[in-house]
Amino acid sequence: MDFERAREEVNRALEACISEELRAAPSSIAAPIEYAVLSPGKRIRPLLVIASWEAVRGESVEDKKPALYRLACAPELVHAYSLIHDDLPCMDDDNLRRGSPTVHVSFGVRGAILAGAALMPLAVGTIGSAADGLGIGLDIKTEMIKTLVAASGGAGMVGGQLLDIEAEGGEVDLDTLEEIHLGKTARLLSASCVIGALAAGAGPDVLERLANYGLKVGLAFQAIDDILDVIGSTEKLGKFGGRDQVLGKVTTPSVLGLSGAKERAAQLGNEAIAELDLLPNSEGLHRITHLILDRDR
Ligand code: IPE
Ligand code: IPE
Ligand code: MG
Ligand code: MG
Ligand code: MG
Repeated sequence: MDFERAREEVNRALEACISEELRAAPSSIAAPIEYAVLSPGKRIRPLLVIASWEAVRGESVEDKKPALYRLACAPELVHAYSLIHDDLPCMDDDNLRRGSPTVHVSFGVRGAILAGAALMPLAVGTIGSAADGLGIGLDIKTEMIKTLVAASGGAGMVGGQLLDIEAEGGEVDLDTLEEIHLGKTARLLSASCVIGALAAGAGPDVLERLANYGLKVGLAFQAIDDILDVIGSTEKLGKFGGRDQVLGKVTTPSVLGLSGAKERAAQLGNEAIAELDLLPNSEGLHRITHLILDRDR
């Protein structure tokens, strides 16, 4: 998989999803949604959907699969919503994201809350239309929707976000920290893998391996995010560093120290890769794992 080309296809698909949805919406909600979703993210979750599809099929996604790029947008829409809310004054209170002012800075808190709220139903609808475009039947479509919803709600991203805030100023052990990270981050990365694999027709064993891969790589992803908050540059990250310490967050470096955190991320990366050994074509997922571990943004 060519990541740059895949990102371009995903960006086009994101534009299409949003413009269909927003045709009938007031411009005051359309503007913050477009601003949040189309800003330059790394599109890791869509890449995981596509690479998981390829891993199961043993072939690369041809250009004639626009519906697969649409499917890949679903977890990205949930992610975009999570970032809008993550940056709010009552959450991490950040004013820079992807190199631009955060959504609430540009559009107000009300616009940011409602834009975030609008993205969850859009994500679910996007799975529906993508599954129809791929000729996927009702059972698998339902399974994909359940997977996304479970990873996003109280037992997933939303619950993890609240635990993350509640833990501020305290001390936790590694298990507790990683329980928070599973919820706020890793379950959505895992769901991205499972959704791609379901679309490719994977059976239960492969689904389980890819779900575990996603959880491990998701924990590694958040560990690296925490490390970059300490050592990364604002210019590269497009967000201000040093915020976790200011907010008293529990993070991988706060629990393990910086070098312990780097070791833990590498260990999680190896555990993730160990889940891939039986797949027909896991090259893309291998490369994404390294991208996640070696990134500077
Ligand atoms: C940042 O996610 C928030 C976390 C879950 C750690 P990303 O690093 O994927 O953010 P973008 O999408 O590239 O901006
Ligand atoms: C955010 O984690 C996780 C979600 C948005 C669900 P962080 O709060 O560490 O993400 P950044 O560092 O602000 O991107
Ligand atoms: Mg946060
Ligand atoms: Mg944050
Ligand atoms: Mg962070």
